[in-house]
Amino acid sequence: MRSLASENRQLLSKIATNDGHGENTPYFDGWKAYDRDPFHLTKNPSGVIQMGLAENQLCFDLIEDWIRKNPIASICTAEGVKDFKDVAIFQDYHGFPEFRKAIAKFMSKVRGGRVTFDPDRIVMGGGATGANEIVMFCLADPGDAFLVPTPYYPAFVRDLGWRTGAQIVPVHCDSSNNFQVTKQALEAAYEKAQNDNINVKGLLITNPSNPLGTTLDRQTLKTLVNFVNDKNIHLVCDEIYAATVFDYPSYVGVTEVVEEVENCNKDLIHIVYSLSKDMGLPGFRVGIVYSYNDAVVSCGRKMSSFGLVSSQTQRLLASMLDDDVFVSNFLSESSKRLKKRYENFTKGLEEVGITCLKSNAGLFFWMNLQRLLKEQTFEGEMALWLVIINEVKLNVSPGSSFQCSEPGWFRVCFANMEEETVNVALERIRSFVGKEAKQAAVPPVAKAKRNWRNNGNLRLSFNSRRHEQEGGFMSAAHMLSPHSPMPQSPLLRART
Ligand SMILES: Cc1ncc(COP(=O)(O)O)c(C=O)c1O
Repeated sequence: MRSLASENRQLLSKIATNDGHGENTPYFDGWKAYDRDPFHLTKNPSGVIQMGLAENQLCFDLIEDWIRKNPIASICTAEGVKDFKDVAIFQDYHGFPEFRKAIAKFMSKVRGGRVTFDPDRIVMGGGATGANEIVMFCLADPGDAFLVPTPYYPAFVRDLGWRTGAQIVPVHCDSSNNFQVTKQALEAAYEKAQNDNINVKGLLITNPSNPLGTTLDRQTLKTLVNFVNDKNIHLVCDEIYAATVFDYPSYVGVTEVVEEVENCNKDLIHIVYSLSKDMGLPGFRVGIVYSYNDAVVSCGRKMSSFGLVSSQTQRLLASMLDDDVFVSNFLSESSKRLKKRYENFTKGLEEVGITCLKSNAGLFFWMNLQRLLKEQTFEGEMALWLVIINEVKLNVSPGSSFQCSEPGWFRVCFANMEEETVNVALERIRSFVGKEAKQAAVPPVAKAKRNWRNNGNLRLSFNSRRHEQEGGFMSAAHMLSPHSPMPQSPLLRART
C-alpha cells in the first residue's frame, strides 16, 4: 500500500511536498509548545512563556492614542468613511504616492535624517518576508546562492529559498570576536561555494542582527560593500530593526556607507524593510524593497502584485508616518522602553550568573548557557532546550536553529510581554539555576545516583525517562509544526 506522503509527492508539486518551509525545526516547535499551554498571569500562571517571538508590544498605547486623535485617517470611522469608496476600489501595484512618500520620510528619520530615500524606488511586499522573497526572485535563479552570516534568522530558509529555489551558504562567525563578520569569513564561504560549484549571487545581512541584537559598525559595512563590489555580486541589507536601536553605538545603515565607498556600484545594493518591528505592526504586513537598481525596482513592483499592502493600511500609515511630532516621540519613547526592558532582564540574569552577548538593538538578546550544557555539543544544547521548555516552561530559541556554529547559545525575546511576565520568567530562571547549583553541591554518593554526571560545572539533572513516560512530554521529533492548521493558534497570528 502506498503511503499518503508518497501519494502526495505524485499529486502535488515539489514545493508543496518538500521541507523548504523550515517549520520542522525546534525554532517553530517551541511555538507549538507555547500554543499547547500558553502562559497567562491569572488564567494559566504555570503555562509556557513565549520568549521566541520577536514582537515589539511596548508602545501600543502611543499608536492607539494617535488613532483616537486622528479618526479621519481611518476609513471605518464617521470622519473617514467619505473616502471609503476611493480606498476600497482597485489599486495598482505602485501603491499610493502619499504612502510611498511617508515611508521614504520615515526611513530617513529612522536614520537620523542623514540620508534620503526616493519614494519612486519604494516597492511594496507582504512584510519583510515577502520583500526578501521578491529580491531573491529578482536576483537569483534556482540553485544560485546567497551568503548569509551565522547566526541568522531561521525563517530565511523559507523566505529566501523555499519558492525561489535559491540556497543559503553560511558565513561562519563565532564568539571569539562577538560574532562579527570578517573579510576572512566572507572569503572562506565564497571560496567554499566556488569549490562546491555553487553560483554565489550575493550576500545578505541583517543589520541590526537577528538574533544577536547588535548593529554593524561603519567599517564592517564598508568591508561588506567592498566585498560585493570586488566579486560583482549583490548586497541585500535586511534593515527591519533599523529603529529598534536603544543604545550606543547608534545605527548606521548601508545607505550612508554606499555614498562613502569609492566607485561603489549601486546597482548591487538593495534594502529590505518593514514596519513589523520598528512600529510593532507585524499584522499590517507592510514590507518594503528599496533598490538602487532600476531593473529590480521595475520587476519587483510587478511582482509585488502577489503581496500588496492593503489600501486601507496604506492610507492609515501615510497619515501616521507623516506626523512628525508623533513619529519623533514614538521613536524616542520606543528606544527608552526597550532599553529599560533589556537592562532589567539582563541584570536579572546576571544576578544568577547568566551572561549574554552585549547588545544595543533588536527585540531579543543572545544568552550564553554553555556552562549548563551536559556536553558541549548540539545534542547537549537540544537536551537543555527540552528541559527549559518542558520544566522551566520558557520558549526560548536554541542557537542551532539560527545555524550558530557553537552550541549553548539561545535567543530570548523580551519585548512581547508584560512587565509582570518578565518577573515570572526571571523567577523561573532563578529557581532553575538555583536548583542546579544546589544539586551541584550535594555529597558525592547522592551525586552518583543522578542521571547526569556533574563535572564541576552546573549541570542538568532532569530525569529524561520520567519525561518520556509522562503525558505531554515533548521531544523535538514528536512535535508538530506550529503552523499546522489550528484556527485559534496565536502562532497563526504572529510570525517571527
Ligand atoms: C531579520 C528578519 N527579517 C524578516 C522578518 C520577517 O518580518 P515580517 O513580519 O515583516 O515579514 C523578520 C521577523 O522576525 C526578521 O527578524
